[in-house]
Parts: sequence; structure tokens; C-alpha cells
Amino acid sequence: MQVPQHISIIMDGNGRWAKQKGHRRLFGHKSGVEAVRDVTTYCAEIGVKYLSLFAFSEENWDRPADEVKGLMELMFKSMLDERDTLLKNQIRFRVIGNTDHLSASLLAAIRKLEDETAAGSRMTMIVMLSYSGKWDILQAARHYAADCLAAGEQLPVDEARFSDYLATAGVPDPDLLVRTSGEQRISNYMLWQTAYTEFYYSPVLWPDFRRKDLEQAISDFNNRQRRYGKVE
Ligand code: FPP
Repeated sequence: MQVPQHISIIMDGNGRWAKQKGHRRLFGHKSGVEAVRDVTTYCAEIGVKYLSLFAFSEENWDRPADEVKGLMELMFKSMLDERDTLLKNQIRFRVIGNTDHLSASLLAAIRKLEDETAAGSRMTMIVMLSYSGKWDILQAARHYAADCLAAGEQLPVDEARFSDYLATAGVPDPDLLVRTSGEQRISNYMLWQTAYTEFYYSPVLWPDFRRKDLEQAISDFNNRQRRYGKVE
């Protein structure tokens, strides 16, 4: 079986899962952390090199204030709780997104965990936080324009050079993108980076998603023919 180098997941369905059980939405997010743990350790075990998880979009800031606050607190707590597991499994932790909107304390905790796990060579876990695809392309274009101004000329740009301006610079594009909960949308996620990514939609709501479900996605991925627009 071919193991994808980079798996990305849009973790969807926490709210519906909680509602089905008669709980508040935040209960769904908290339960979703179990799925994050199971899937992350599984990916490290089978040799995935990059696992990126869409935890919070730029658009999610418009959710009710108590849900946003609860999600940020959950991020903070999860980072403290999972620190030892990440270190033990040699997993490098990174956050990618528009960090301008994060609180100073959360940002400090993120930078601390990123530093502590920087030597993790088995797998890189990337939490996409306050991220959106259009934001990423725009910030890349702005930085490119600023570099041109500083250089006093238009600098050469091609796909590879432009990718270096994206927030995901240095991270290979996802081979497999999984979205849970039956929704079949890209929702302003990695728009540039998923140009040739294989998409897999699972009906399972995120808090119930486990390694067996990801195994199914990887097995499906193995039956795909990736042609990158070419003829075999
Ligand atoms: C989408 O479900 C899920 C989120 C917006 C949050 C995902 C966050 C976690 C699982 C918790 C922490 C993450 C890490 C990496 C520790 P939804 O609320 O949109 O669900 P719905 O579509 O059913 O309303």
C-alpha cells in the first residue's frame, strides 16, 4: 500500500454530533480531540510525513463568541495535554494561519510547542488555525509585491517561487484531502495547494472518526490514478 506523504483533513461535523446527543456544540469540539489524537498517532505509525488539520478558518471568527472562546481554550489545553505524546512520537508541531487574530498567550504557547518539537523527524503535524485559502494567496501576493518594491524591480515569479510565499512554504502539497461529515466542499481551504490533490469524502462525523476510517480513505486513494492532467 502506498502511504500518502501529506494527508490533510477538514474535520467537520462536531456541531451536528453534539446536537444529535443533546449537547452544546463545544462538547462536539472537545470530543473531536480524541479523533485528532487517534488519527495523528496512526499517521505517524504508518509513515505519513505531513498531517495537516483544518481546525479553524478565518470565517469561523464569525461564530458565536462563546464558541470561538471555547475553541481557542481547547486549542490551548490540547497543546499542553498532547506535548508529551508529540515528543515521545517525534512529531513536529506547527501552526499555519493568520496569527494576527490569535491572543498573545495562545500565540506564545504555540511558539513554545513549535520550538520544543522542532527536532521531531518522524512526522510534521500542522494545525491550520485562522487559515483560509484566499487569505493565503493574498498575503503571498502582498509579500511578493513588497519584495518587488524593495528590489526596485519586478522579480521573476513562477509556480515554485510563488509557492514559497504561501504560508505553507516548504510543505509539500497534500496528496489526499479527507473531509468528514458528508459535506463535499473545499470551503476556502488550501485553494492553491490542492490543485492535484485527491479528495475523499467520509460520511462519519469528526468526533467518531478513527484510524479505521482513515485506513479506508488511504485504501481508496490507492485505487486512484494520478495523472496530473497528462495521459498515461
Ligand atoms: C468543524 O465542525 C470543526 C471545527 C470548526 C473545529 C475543529 C476543532 C477540533 C476538533 C478541536 C481541536 C483541534 C486540535 C487540532 C487539537 P463544525 O462545528 O463545523 O460542525 P457542524 O458542521 O456539524 O456544525
